[in-house]
Amino acid sequence: SVPIILDCDPGHDDAVAILLAAGDPAIDLLAITTVAGNQVLEKTTLNARRICTAAGITSVPIAAGCARPLVRELRVADDVHGQSGMDGPSFGEPTVGTVPEHAVDLMYRLLTRHPEPVTLVPTAPLTNIALLLTRYPDAAAHIREIVLMGGSTERGNRTPAAEFNMYVDPEAADIVFRSGLPVTMCGLNVSHQALVTPDVLARLEGLETDLGRICAELMTFFAATYRRLWGFPAPPLHDPVAVARVVDPAIVDCVDASVAVELRGEYTRGATVVDLHRYLGRPVNARVAVRLDQERFWDRVVGAVDTLGRR
Ligand code: BDR
Ligand code: CA
Repeated sequence: SVPIILDCDPGHDDAVAILLAAGDPAIDLLAITTVAGNQVLEKTTLNARRICTAAGITSVPIAAGCARPLVRELRVADDVHGQSGMDGPSFGEPTVGTVPEHAVDLMYRLLTRHPEPVTLVPTAPLTNIALLLTRYPDAAAHIREIVLMGGSTERGNRTPAAEFNMYVDPEAADIVFRSGLPVTMCGLNVSHQALVTPDVLARLEGLETDLGRICAELMTFFAATYRRLWGFPAPPLHDPVAVARVVDPAIVDCVDASVAVELRGEYTRGATVVDLHRYLGRPVNARVAVRLDQERFWDRVVGAVDTLGRR
């Protein structure tokens, strides 16, 4: 199985990304690291502990990372994810704790000790990853690839041009896309193909486990948000798409392209400029996800929730 570190900001869809990463046999989840994004760091970290407690994920270290973006002020997504960052189900006091190490130090330690290169899967603003690459330049040699959720080949969801994870910390994203490491970008154009339809919701409820019900409650809150804010008929489950690309690359088709992050645009800060047609003649620096195999995707997501819920 593929060793990964999941860097996240739970977050309804991050929570499901954690479940897929912990529950799918194709992945060896080495650590969960948290960052400020959907909510402040204290809340995203608490939420990671909550979902791990609910799913019985007790042997994966959780470490908190950066509390604010590299340059700009933090802007959270409480309009999407609620005051807790993961509104919907009621969670008791989590029994799973965190390790007393900064996320970036934990990542570096795990990367350098692991016998093979490790895949990083960020599903949040890229602050922790950018800090890892700049503070520990020798970490790069231990990274197999970075498979991230963020950006879009099309338009944004936080500004007309920018997707949330890119918008919150564009300077960090710029560092990642310029790192020279293999980067796969799973953006809105593909995550909007991962809609939690009533059929998917019924499959989660039909598992008849506490974890299945918690997922269904999370998705029901998320659905209400997407209906209210954007008029979506069903909510897109962004973050598990990046994990699914690692689980089975055939689930997410990609094309090679040059990707740049807009840092200075008057209206476009945080936009991912994806040169699918090679207008700019810039070197390819990313694989860009373009198509999701929905059937296989949902089979793996529901399968992971099922596996964890029965343990
Ligand atoms: C991304 O923004 C966050 O709100 C989600 O968790 C996801 O990572 C989608 O734009
Ligand atoms: Ca996220």
